[in-house]
Amino acid sequence: MKTIIEPFRIKSVEPIRTTTRKERRELLKKSGYNLFALKSQDVLIDLLTDSGTAAMSAGQWAAMMRGDESYAGSPSFEHFEQAVRDLFGFRHIIPTHQGRAAEAILFSILGGKGKRVPNNTHFDTTRGNIEASGAEAVDLLCAEGLNPADLSPFKGNMDIGKLESFMAANAGCVPCVMMTITNNAGGGQPVSLANIKAVAEIAHRYNKPFIIDGCRFAENAWFIKCREDGQGGRSIPEIVRDMFACADGMTMSAKKDALVNIGGWLALNDDKLAAQARMRLIMTEGFPSYGGLAGRDLEAIAQGLSEVVEEDYLRYRVRTNEYIVERLDKLGIPVVKPAGGHAVFIDARAWLPHIPPLQYPGQAVAVALYEVGGIRTCEIGTVMFGRQPDGTEKPAQLDLVRLAMPRRVYTQAHADYIVEVCEEISKTSNELRGFSIVEEPPALRHFTARFAPL
Ligand code: F0G
Repeated sequence: MKTIIEPFRIKSVEPIRTTTRKERRELLKKSGYNLFALKSQDVLIDLLTDSGTAAMSAGQWAAMMRGDESYAGSPSFEHFEQAVRDLFGFRHIIPTHQGRAAEAILFSILGGKGKRVPNNTHFDTTRGNIEASGAEAVDLLCAEGLNPADLSPFKGNMDIGKLESFMAANAGCVPCVMMTITNNAGGGQPVSLANIKAVAEIAHRYNKPFIIDGCRFAENAWFIKCREDGQGGRSIPEIVRDMFACADGMTMSAKKDALVNIGGWLALNDDKLAAQARMRLIMTEGFPSYGGLAGRDLEAIAQGLSEVVEEDYLRYRVRTNEYIVERLDKLGIPVVKPAGGHAVFIDARAWLPHIPPLQYPGQAVAVALYEVGGIRTCEIGTVMFGRQPDGTEKPAQLDLVRLAMPRRVYTQAHADYIVEVCEEISKTSNELRGFSIVEEPPALRHFTARFAPL
């Protein structure tokens, strides 16, 4: 059959509320045109993030009832540990309450003043944790990854040439080499198995641990299966094992590809590093057999990991984004191509060329999506990255709007509705206006800034 259906039926529903356009105009005004300030009940379709927003399966809810809440020696930890080890193969698996906690622990050990950590693109919490330790986070993404219209299959790849010269010049101050799969900040684009192996080889040649930020490992593995030579006949767990076999550790936010609402882990092979991490874990997260989570959360993760590698699920998951991207492309709305694994990214700077970057075209699109259709999205552009440490402001590399898809939550009709709202906006997109920022905090301004329409 040609139609790729949602590979599940729905047992429990959560009503969503329609508001009128007039109400939404008022709500926007009240929230200072910042979508983070909206109440979720006032949002019809919430595409703010794919993190922690998944619908759990009947199997996961059943597993939660089996959660053993003992402080130490819980069988739920063993189920969790076994599920993570089966897929990723690491010696030490250290649960944390979410991904950034794993990053904080890792860089409290590996970070520090004068250190430099390369990655394809650091996610902002990874960058934050590295910088908070006094170290520097360096992005070495391939050139294709910065061009929204480039159709290359693996636009999340590290630039191997740049990594070689970086290591030659900086090896003394590099504590580890990182890789983020898929590359969230760069449009949810995947990394090829060949690139993962090449990066690992360089890291190991310099005797440095190679650490993968594996938040969206299953989506990345699906892209490898579909796009990389020789991979089509292999199972997703086989590909995942291969991706991680050459790594020395991983950080993970289970809120993405473990299909749960909270959780994460740090995995490591090195005994000494793991012992240091567990010490830190006990101080900040909890005992090593629960790390800031309940036993039931560990059970839900174990079950989620067996569901997220199912091909019917991944085919439907990635197809949803492709479908929206194809339709927006046909309407002439500029989007990042090919479609990413967890989100559709609209290229707002290209869509609204009459709004200069310092008047935030991404914010204009995000506000219009809410005003016209009640859809909440996230600007990833000059609002998020424009303010410089010295207080000046400059345009970000790109002005994108991310439509992040929660896992197993919305249906094809929701996707059609999203396209229709974009089509409605495109009829008068040349009339959209930019914004000025009237209030902003000293850092991470996108969460709390207030805007005024120009
Ligand atoms: N790494 C990547 C690539 C991420 O996308 C995120 C979270 C994290 C690490 C941190 O994980 O939230 O569990 O602490 N990304 C979310 C997002 C917040 O909306 O993209 P966390």
